[in-house]
Amino acid sequence: MELEPLRDGHGRLIGDLRVSVTDRCNFRCQYCMPAEGLPWLERREILSFEEIARLVALFSAMGVRDLRLTGGEPLVRRGFPQLVRMLSDIEDVAEVSVTTNGFLLERDAAALVQAGMSRFNVSIDSLQGDRFYELTRRDALPQVLRGLEVLASFPEAHPIKVNAVAIREFTEEEVLPFAEFARRTPYEVRFIEYMPLDADHAWTPEQVLTGEEIRAAITAVYPLEPEPREPHATARVYRFADGHGRIGFINPVSEPFCGDCNRIRLTADGRLRTCLFSLNETDLREPLRAGADDSELEQIIRDAVWRKELKHHVGEPGFIQPARSMSAIGG
Ligand code: 5AD
Ligand code: SF4
Repeated sequence: MELEPLRDGHGRLIGDLRVSVTDRCNFRCQYCMPAEGLPWLERREILSFEEIARLVALFSAMGVRDLRLTGGEPLVRRGFPQLVRMLSDIEDVAEVSVTTNGFLLERDAAALVQAGMSRFNVSIDSLQGDRFYELTRRDALPQVLRGLEVLASFPEAHPIKVNAVAIREFTEEEVLPFAEFARRTPYEVRFIEYMPLDADHAWTPEQVLTGEEIRAAITAVYPLEPEPREPHATARVYRFADGHGRIGFINPVSEPFCGDCNRIRLTADGRLRTCLFSLNETDLREPLRAGADDSELEQIIRDAVWRKELKHHVGEPGFIQPARSMSAIGG
């Protein structure tokens, strides 16, 4: 099936879909969830594997090639590798990737690689156990590092990315250890600027440790050279001048990359979001369950995507944080 490419009202072609497969998580990261968790969606509210696959097939017919599975924590969704298999079998889906906190990778890495998962991003915000605990509220660093090692034993899983959220007065201490980690392991470490998507609404602009500050601190010790920028890439990637490893910076706050954004998101309960910071969503679940055919769904999707936001307004006066936090949107 081949349909017209999916395009927004600003002329951007949409090629990348992030699907949140659950709003639940086994961690409680400070910048994402409150300590007590959130009111979880009910089972019947969550899209089934078949519903996700039907929507993904439709999106891929409209030119979406890259699929990233997120949560919450995607690996806590029962039968997750089976979903990966269903999605990677869809014609035209070029790449299925996942963003995970790594806690269940020791258990699931083999099944996921076998199911056709092609890229893994593992979130690790500190390489010290006590500080990892402070941020995630789980004493789980050794478990995550074991999972990463199991994953790394599969050549097909490489290159593996490790993502760290950069928060002022926390991450400074982590910068050089992460740079050294990137130099001695095969992983590409990427720092992500802290965004106002925390459930506690505690974010302030002062808490953003910018990618440029981190890059300057690293290059003073281990000189860095920029790699060419790939189209639609969110990260600015550098290599260590002596050839040992790579490091990246995702700077959505200090250097927004909305201009060539080709991404849209589907929440676990079947709502389409055209921006991380969207204030409204388009429900696809209700029409899907009411028996809409593909051309009806296609029209709903095209109308929503046409209205994709030009850019986000983080840090500007009047910015309104979305009601959902990162775990309910899908990173
Ligand atoms: N700001 C930046 N990144 C965040 N993540 C979760 N919440 C935030 C936030 N408020 C990251 C996670 C993970 C990905 C899903 O998004 O650490 O890497
Ligand atoms: Fe869970 Fe990821 Fe949110 Fe942490 S950031 S609580 S791992 S969903």
